[in-house]
Amino acid sequence: MKPWLVLPAQIAHDLSPIGLKLYSLLNEIPTPAWKSFVWESIVFKNRLGIAGGVDKNGELLDVWNSIGCGFAEIGTVTPEPQEPNPGKILDRSLKDFALWNQMGFPSAGADDVFFNIRNFKMTSSLPVFVNIGKNRQTSNENAHQDYTRLLQRFYSVADAFVVNISSPNTKGLRELAQAKNLEAFLNPLQIAQRNLYEQHGFKKPVVLKLSPDLESDDFKNIIDTSLKNKIDGFVLTNTTLSRTTEKSFPPTGGVSGKPLQDLSKKALQIVCSHLGSEKHKKLIISVGGVMTAEDVFERIDLGADLVEVYTTLIFQGPGFFKGVAQKIHGKNGK
Ligand SMILES: Cc1cc2nc3c(=O)[nH]c(=O)nc-3n(C[C@H](O)[C@H](O)[C@H](O)COP(=O)(O)O)c2cc1C
Repeated sequence: MKPWLVLPAQIAHDLSPIGLKLYSLLNEIPTPAWKSFVWESIVFKNRLGIAGGVDKNGELLDVWNSIGCGFAEIGTVTPEPQEPNPGKILDRSLKDFALWNQMGFPSAGADDVFFNIRNFKMTSSLPVFVNIGKNRQTSNENAHQDYTRLLQRFYSVADAFVVNISSPNTKGLRELAQAKNLEAFLNPLQIAQRNLYEQHGFKKPVVLKLSPDLESDDFKNIIDTSLKNKIDGFVLTNTTLSRTTEKSFPPTGGVSGKPLQDLSKKALQIVCSHLGSEKHKKLIISVGGVMTAEDVFERIDLGADLVEVYTTLIFQGPGFFKGVAQKIHGKNGK
């Protein structure tokens, strides 16, 4: 068992930046190349990166760059700084290989995160997705204003954006993905993206992160509305509100890790199949219950262009990225 797993989940989480920095100093490797991939002029040396929430403020970008990640998703960033939800916000179950969290977008705010990413990008070409969300006091009617403000703020430093409307931990956020709300939410984002394209002369893709707790028809409706609004891809999926673990987590908050695996794979299959001939134009990122190197390869076989992890890093540690690269090189006989 990894030594940090004997600590309470929140304490291990709070200490993890120190451990990660130390690990990366002692184990620095050039980003391993496997299944290299270019999408919208973004060059990915390999297809495995960190998921939203692992590095909310972009404070550990040097670490991700030096332990073998093919890209990093930073955030969720909110326009203004905000504190986490009150009370207990993190727990884990070793038996279930699961995490439970109810963080609610703790963020240093757009200005601080912007400087962290800008400084990193001055010397590194590692692709950085910026995952954006609304402040908790912003109403759903005005949510598009928070998101467009973040598109504007990060346009010069992000390689692409992830629009997060699937966290279960910000009250009412998932309602933005409902059929009655999605068009009104996405349309202003599409206009902002187009204006920024004209202003800067280059396009920054915008992908949508979805919940695993949707019915098949909901996924299809979301995709149809997204295609109409020129969304460039999908991140599948966020944490689940469903409960299948032996350990009894609170009914609110999101569960990740192994219990999310089947839901995440199902979402990937529904979305790939519904996209049909449009699929090759869109970026598909699979995340949720990717626990082993074999899981990474399986997601790629199922149609994912990129794969992300969070929970497995807690159970296996940062050597995961190097381990996957070694396995794939072994598989290919290199
Ligand atoms: C503690 C924690 C915090 C998270 N914070 C965010 C977040 O800020 N934004 C986001 O889009 N997803 C967030 N997620 C969801 C992850 O990005 C990912 O979608 C989910 O954990 C499933 O992947 P996994 O099974 O590999 O953990 C968070 C997950 C955890 C466990």
